[in-house]
Amino acid sequence: MSVKKHLVLGLTLLLSAFCSHAQSTIVGLADPLTMDDGTKVATTKQWQQRRKELLQLFTTEMYGQMPARPRNMTFKVFESSNNALGGLATRKQVTVYFNGKADSPQMDILIYLPNKVKKRGLILQLGFSGNQTLSNDTAVKLSTSWVTNSKTVLNNRATEASRGKTPNKDVEMILRRGYGFATIYCGDIDPDFDDGFKNGVHALYPEMQGRGDNFSTIGAWAWGLHRALDYMETDKDINTKKVAVFGFSRLGKAALWAGATDKRFAMVLSNESGCGGVRIFRRGKGEDIKHLCNSFPHWFDINFRKYIGKDTVLPFDQHMVVSLIAPRPIAIGSADGDQYSDPEGEFLGGVYATPVYKLLGSDGLPTTQMPKLNEPVSGQIQYHIRPGNHDVLTYDWEQYLNFMDKHFK
Ligand code: GCU
Repeated sequence: MSVKKHLVLGLTLLLSAFCSHAQSTIVGLADPLTMDDGTKVATTKQWQQRRKELLQLFTTEMYGQMPARPRNMTFKVFESSNNALGGLATRKQVTVYFNGKADSPQMDILIYLPNKVKKRGLILQLGFSGNQTLSNDTAVKLSTSWVTNSKTVLNNRATEASRGKTPNKDVEMILRRGYGFATIYCGDIDPDFDDGFKNGVHALYPEMQGRGDNFSTIGAWAWGLHRALDYMETDKDINTKKVAVFGFSRLGKAALWAGATDKRFAMVLSNESGCGGVRIFRRGKGEDIKHLCNSFPHWFDINFRKYIGKDTVLPFDQHMVVSLIAPRPIAIGSADGDQYSDPEGEFLGGVYATPVYKLLGSDGLPTTQMPKLNEPVSGQIQYHIRPGNHDVLTYDWEQYLNFMDKHFK
């Protein structure tokens, strides 16, 4: 072997030893603490400036612009009972009329508040297929919005058979632990298919289309979550200082962006949000931007398509979105069988946001070593990985509830 080859091999071994030791080494990853003009961020005040730059960057290049809170928006509590789920909870169902008109885009929020504990905190979940899927509670309004066809959805409309698809026991466990649970169907805000950004709430804002930083579907879902908080601020039974926004998978991407763009969310719970969620693109593992943009062209803005094929040289990355949440707590959950979401890349989304948390006087994620299965690591950022597939299991909820106990109790 030539001297040159020896040298190359030696360097490669050295580099890989370093990389496996400090799992967090990703060459060329953008630094959330360096301003656009190269200035290093060293103070909280400078971070406020840098935060604005990052918000602008992700709004333009990835998630798109969002409209402000609509001036004519109204809320209607159309049903309530203080004897829901066998007396465990008070149920409220609310319609948000985005422009105040009953025949225009609107969303329903289903809220359960525990009867025994008041105002400890609440999980606001964006759901996949209608609020009625959350429990067998027959008082829950059956969604009339467009839903993806399945065994319980015919001609894109939910049927009675779709009730209670999500295990009741998880909702009841959350209530027993003293937390409220609210859910919105994402399709009320914007149906999850590519129609050129015309239906759902996009219909109210045609001026926000036809541009690179257009109002996207993930942008719309995040915006809908903001509007749910607007309602909650009018409801004296809810402690809006302790609302944790939760999403799984594509809805985890939306929950992350909702928390990044609205500081009223006290906490973010991101379950297997994967590519376009908390996961670092630059590793080039799991799903890529090409797949994301080709299969779901409506999720992100049009500008984002220019990064197809550029995952490993991207000038920004998702730890920067996590940083936008700092110093508020965020819990990240992964599953071992969900390699498509790249669990280690999700973990590193927390690791690389940690310097921002530290600058703001907190600990961020207290390790750079990928934890073992079922051994959660918890600071102001929490990370857990469990065996099993892409899903939300009781174990996942337990980790999020423990995190809420730590920060909200
Ligand atoms: C697809 C998509 C993922 C997404 C997932 C989901 O698999 O490629 O990015 O997270 O759907 O939402 O379940």
